[in-house]
Amino acid sequence: MLNRDFTNQAPTMLNKVLIGIQNKSPRRSVYSLVLWTGLTFIFVSASTYFISQSRPAVDYFTHHESTYDSSANTNGPNPLLTTEGIDQFIHDHAYPRLGESANFTGLRQVCDSTKWQKNVYFTCTHNLGGLINVRNMVLNCVRYAIAAGASGLILPLIEARDPTVLSRLKTGEYQSMQFLFDEDWFKKVMKTNCRQMELLDTIEDVPHYRYATMPDLMNVQSFMGQPPGSRQGRMRNRKPEDFRPRFDALIKSQSKRPGERNPVIVRLDDRTLFSWPPSFDSPAFANYFGFILEFRLDLTALANIIVSRVRPTSSSGASKDPYVGVHLRSEADAGKYWASWDQLANATLSAAVESDIKHIYVASGDTDGVAKLAKKAAESGIKVLDKWGVLLKNEKEYLKPFRFDQLAIVDYLTLLESDRFVGSGQSSFSSHILMRREFIANNTLSTDTKNDNGKPRDQFAGPGRLAYWDQDWP
Ligand SMILES: *[C@@H]1O[C@H](CO)[C@@H](O)[C@H](O)[C@H]1NC(C)=O
Ligand SMILES: *[C@@H]1O[C@H](CO)[C@@H](O)[C@H](O)[C@H]1NC(C)=O
Ligand SMILES: *[C@@H]1O[C@H](CO)[C@@H](O)[C@H](O)[C@H]1NC(C)=O
Repeated sequence: MLNRDFTNQAPTMLNKVLIGIQNKSPRRSVYSLVLWTGLTFIFVSASTYFISQSRPAVDYFTHHESTYDSSANTNGPNPLLTTEGIDQFIHDHAYPRLGESANFTGLRQVCDSTKWQKNVYFTCTHNLGGLINVRNMVLNCVRYAIAAGASGLILPLIEARDPTVLSRLKTGEYQSMQFLFDEDWFKKVMKTNCRQMELLDTIEDVPHYRYATMPDLMNVQSFMGQPPGSRQGRMRNRKPEDFRPRFDALIKSQSKRPGERNPVIVRLDDRTLFSWPPSFDSPAFANYFGFILEFRLDLTALANIIVSRVRPTSSSGASKDPYVGVHLRSEADAGKYWASWDQLANATLSAAVESDIKHIYVASGDTDGVAKLAKKAAESGIKVLDKWGVLLKNEKEYLKPFRFDQLAIVDYLTLLESDRFVGSGQSSFSSHILMRREFIANNTLSTDTKNDNGKPRDQFAGPGRLAYWDQDWP
């Protein structure tokens, strides 16, 4: 566990702060009043939004007995709890991943045509919330670092939510990116395709970091002179093309140019969710940028195990047992206007009946809702499964200690592979699965041949949907 308080202490500690980014307006008092009123409003609405968005209750904590348990697996030490055992398990089950067929030419082109600035570093520390929101925030931070031409990037961190009070996102518990993502993959892809940007493990690895100039935590929207967000536009940066000129002006306004002995370290705040519109970049870049992040290998392997058991392939490879995946986002904290249990259950059962599918894989924190779904499905001879019901004893023992958002990885990947998918249009987790499935179908990017029959017929149950497509990277 990394506990890095430097992110808050650094400015006072180093006592070298740039001219406040937010204090540049000549009509400062009027401006501040408006700004503060606006910020307060936005903060209240945004935090409500974040809390609701960022609780993809993709897991429920009932550990019922696996229907796949075999006696061979119940005795003796658990190999998954040894380094060699888990390495072997990863080797056997985690590959291939989609990222391995991603085309990073677009990323390389952007990096090759960027004007890089020596001795300028970015940190991406305040990434918090649900799995998919964290992913978006990390990607956006890296995108801003590239836009700024920062020649150094400190490996992103993740602020882990409170395990007992899931709505408490701001905890000050900073974890390495390995908490959710495959760090080696990220390093490899960036080194290969964006070699101009050096990756540093920690802020202490910046040469002469004690003498660094550290502007206040940067809030992109106020830096851009844009309103912090609206109901539709959320935190969207309306003019990404202005970021670089503004950034250059900021650097120029310093008394000293960034140098080896006085580097500049820029730290983005926790308001980068949905900030960068992917459509600003060429499809060659935007389509594959998200693949610089892959989820951690051990949980990927477990998800693949689940898929292989829910959908066994006969030895001839001819027939497969398909399943409907549902993100049953009907927990108590879901908004009033979100898809209801009725709508989600109805859409899921209809999809199964329509396609003559006999298995449903469910991800949900709504224990009662899952039980109700299982009961209703049974009436049509359909079986409802979740990860705890599919994994074997040793696997469950390995998975159990993982945190809420880590467990979400297993559900995300299992739902991604489903033959039909039903989710809630108001959930960023559901929305991303739908977008990625569409992306995979469009690009015939696949780990197997499941798209033979064309695009998956996915659906959102319930009213409306997030204006998601140009808010997040596929
Ligand atoms: C990768 O993307 C680039 C840029 O869009 C394209 O020119 C190239 O053909 C692609 N490579 C493959 C193998 O698809
Ligand atoms: C879903 O709802 C419609 C309309 O209310 C109903 O006719 C249908 O039978 C429901 N389907 C299932 C599978 O419950
Ligand atoms: C998939 O292709 C369709 C048709 O070209 C397009 O409208 C849609 O945006 C694509 N989806 C993704 C996620 O790339």
